[in-house]
Amino acid sequence: MNETGLSEEKIRNILNDSKSQDLKYERVLSSMCTYPHRVAVEAHMQFIESNMGDFGLFKGTSNLEKEVLSMLSNLLHHPGASGYMTTGGTESNIQAIRSMRNLFIQKSKCEKPNLVVPDSAHFSFDKVSDILDVELRKASLEDDLKVSIDSVKSLIDENTIGLVAIAGSTEFGQVDPIARLSEIALENNIFLHIDAAFGGFVLPFLEMSCEFDFILPGVTSIAIDPHKMGMSTIPSGVLLFRTNEHLESLKAETPYLTVSTQYTLTGTRSGAAVAATYAVMSFLGKEGYREKVSGCMELTHYLMDRLAGINVYPLLKPVMNVVALKVSKPDLVRSRLAKEFNWQVSITQKPHGLRLVIMPHVTFEMIDSFVKDLEKVLQTI
Ligand SMILES: Cc1ncc(COP(=O)(O)O)c(C=O)c1O
Repeated sequence: MNETGLSEEKIRNILNDSKSQDLKYERVLSSMCTYPHRVAVEAHMQFIESNMGDFGLFKGTSNLEKEVLSMLSNLLHHPGASGYMTTGGTESNIQAIRSMRNLFIQKSKCEKPNLVVPDSAHFSFDKVSDILDVELRKASLEDDLKVSIDSVKSLIDENTIGLVAIAGSTEFGQVDPIARLSEIALENNIFLHIDAAFGGFVLPFLEMSCEFDFILPGVTSIAIDPHKMGMSTIPSGVLLFRTNEHLESLKAETPYLTVSTQYTLTGTRSGAAVAATYAVMSFLGKEGYREKVSGCMELTHYLMDRLAGINVYPLLKPVMNVVALKVSKPDLVRSRLAKEFNWQVSITQKPHGLRLVIMPHVTFEMIDSFVKDLEKVLQTI
C-alpha cells in the first residue's frame, strides 16, 4: 500500500484497465454463472454494507433472507424447511455434510465416518472429505452417467453417515436416480443430501421435470445456488434442511454479537447477496424462471442441430443446458478455441469431451459464430 492514496481518477483508470482484461460473458461457454439480473444488481448495491454475520443489526435484511428461504422451501416441496444463505454450492455442501456427521456421531461411536457420493460429484466433496475427515466413497456411474444403484448399495456400511445425489451434474447436467436413492437412505436410516447447486433453478422450470427434492421422503438436505441459474449476484447459495435438528447441529455461540448463536460457516456474510436474491426471485417469479430456462433449452437444442450439421454429437443427450461433445483431442480443441477465437469452453473427464454450458447470456448469434469457429478448428486437428 502507498503512504498516500491515489486519486480517484487514477484508481478508476486502473480499475477500467483491469476490467478490460476480464473476459466478457459473450465469449464464455464454460461458466455456470452469468450476468446477474438488473433488479438483483440494484438491490445488491442498496444493501452493500449489510452484514448477515451480525443480523441483529440488519433486521430488514434478515427478514429478506427468511423470505428467500420460504420461497425456496415452497418451490422444493417442504414449506418450513430450515437453512440459511451460503456463499454458494461449496459452502452448502460442506455444511450439509458437517451436519450429517455431527448428528451421526452423536448417535453412534464411529472412528472414521464415510460418505457415499457419485463419481460425478463436484470437487467440493473432496474438500468436504479433507475438512471434515470423512472418507469419500465414490460410486461408479452407469452408461447414462447416473450413479449406479448397485455400486451405491455395495459401498454402504455401518460407518456410512449418508449419501449424496446430484441434480444437475457439473460436467453433464445429469440427474441421479434420486427416488431410488431416497428409498435406500430410508432403508438404511442414513441421510441423503441433494447437490442441486446448478439444477435447482433449472429442474422445477423444465417442461419435463423430475422429482429430486423434499417431495421424496428420504431427502434430508438440498444445496441450490441463486448465483448460478437463479440470476442473482455472487455470493448467493442456499442450504435447506428438512428438519431443524440439522441446523441446530451447526450451532456456535457468538457472545460478542447482537445475536447469541450462529449456524453459518463464515462469520461476516453478504446481506447484499440476500437482498439481490430476494429481489430477482420476487421479480421473475416462477413464470420468469420458466421463460429463462425455456430460452436456454431452446438454444441448447439449436446448438445440437447446428453441431449435427458439422458432424459433432453429444456424449449424452442433454438433460438440461449443459452439453458434453464427442470430439477428438478435447484439450487441444479447447486451447485452440481460446487462443485463435477467444472462446472459453471447458472439458469433461469421464468420458473425455468438450463441455459447454448454455447460460442466459448465450444467444443464437453466439452459437452460430461458435459453431463456425469450432468447425475450423476441427478441420485442422
Ligand atoms: C453441482 C455443483 N455443486 C457445487 C458447485 C460449487 O458451487 P460454488 O462454486 O458456488 O461453490 C458447483 C459449481 O459449479 C456445481 O456445479
